[in-house]
Amino acid sequence: MKHRIGILGFGTVGQGLTEILLKKKEFLSKKYGFTYSIVAVADFKFGNVYNPKGLDMERLLKEARAGKKFSKDIVDWDNEKMIKKTDTSVWCELTYTDLQTGGPAINHVRTALKSDKHVVTSNKGPAALFYPEMKKLADKHNVRFMIEGTVVAGTPIINLADGPLAGCTITKIRGILNGTTNYMLSEMEKGMGYNEVLKIAQEKGYAEADPTGDVEGYDARGKVTILANIVMGAGIKINEVPCEGITKITSSDIEKAKKNGKRWKLIGSVEMTDHGVKASVKPEMIEMNHPLAGVMGATNALTFSTDLLGDVTIVGPGAGKIETGFSILTDLIKIHRESC
Ligand code: HSE
Repeated sequence: MKHRIGILGFGTVGQGLTEILLKKKEFLSKKYGFTYSIVAVADFKFGNVYNPKGLDMERLLKEARAGKKFSKDIVDWDNEKMIKKTDTSVWCELTYTDLQTGGPAINHVRTALKSDKHVVTSNKGPAALFYPEMKKLADKHNVRFMIEGTVVAGTPIINLADGPLAGCTITKIRGILNGTTNYMLSEMEKGMGYNEVLKIAQEKGYAEADPTGDVEGYDARGKVTILANIVMGAGIKINEVPCEGITKITSSDIEKAKKNGKRWKLIGSVEMTDHGVKASVKPEMIEMNHPLAGVMGATNALTFSTDLLGDVTIVGPGAGKIETGFSILTDLIKIHRESC
């Protein structure tokens, strides 16, 4: 079966996914029987394009990289019409995250699911704010709402908890959940200034469209909320999670910690307690010999504490164009396998 893919949002992640799908077309077909065409792309900056026979993605990438509007296969349809009217089987929702309202992504997700189309997303808004509703809608329409990319890019977190760790009771999840801030803290330790390093994190495609979300801890709080609700069934609201970012950490704080054999890390934590599931995001000064102390740059790490296996730690990229593009691919392959 050939999958007909639509992409909403042709920014860093949309372009990263496209690069992977172009490069690995033959490999994915041979190894998994996963064949596809990207037939629709909707982007507020570059325009909306549709070709049921498959879009020329090389050209779209070239135009987007040059900051130009798409020049062929243009349709005068809004995103809702794109989702409903195009002959698509799955939509990749890759627009910017809004953790206050979930928009505009939540409307895209609702429309796609109601139109019996699968949704794969790296957008934390719909997952952190509306997961139960979206899951129910997907089940009703016999399609999937897949969110691996919302937590730690393509490093398997949601799928690890749902797949290989199924059967274990997970009592605690704790670790580094934001690539931008971990990269910033790592570089600041080498002597770089806060603003300078934030700019580089943006250029590298680690930071959110509005990097306040990273440095204030809101991005990590979104991920912690997703983990609390999906892995532990907590039913908590994002605003109930105490959250502090790294904006108050100065170069001198980093230096002081270093002198005392310690290192600052932004730590997200979800824990089952006698009083329910408790979640938080806050900077912590940890000992240099702590396992998380050696996790540097945009790398993230999460330890799952389980009843049957003890602690299971996964370390991997937490942000980036190809790394997040891969998170979408992994869910697309899962949908493909389920449909075989
Ligand atoms: N801005 C996020 C980060 C991207 O830095 O971790 C992945 O969610």
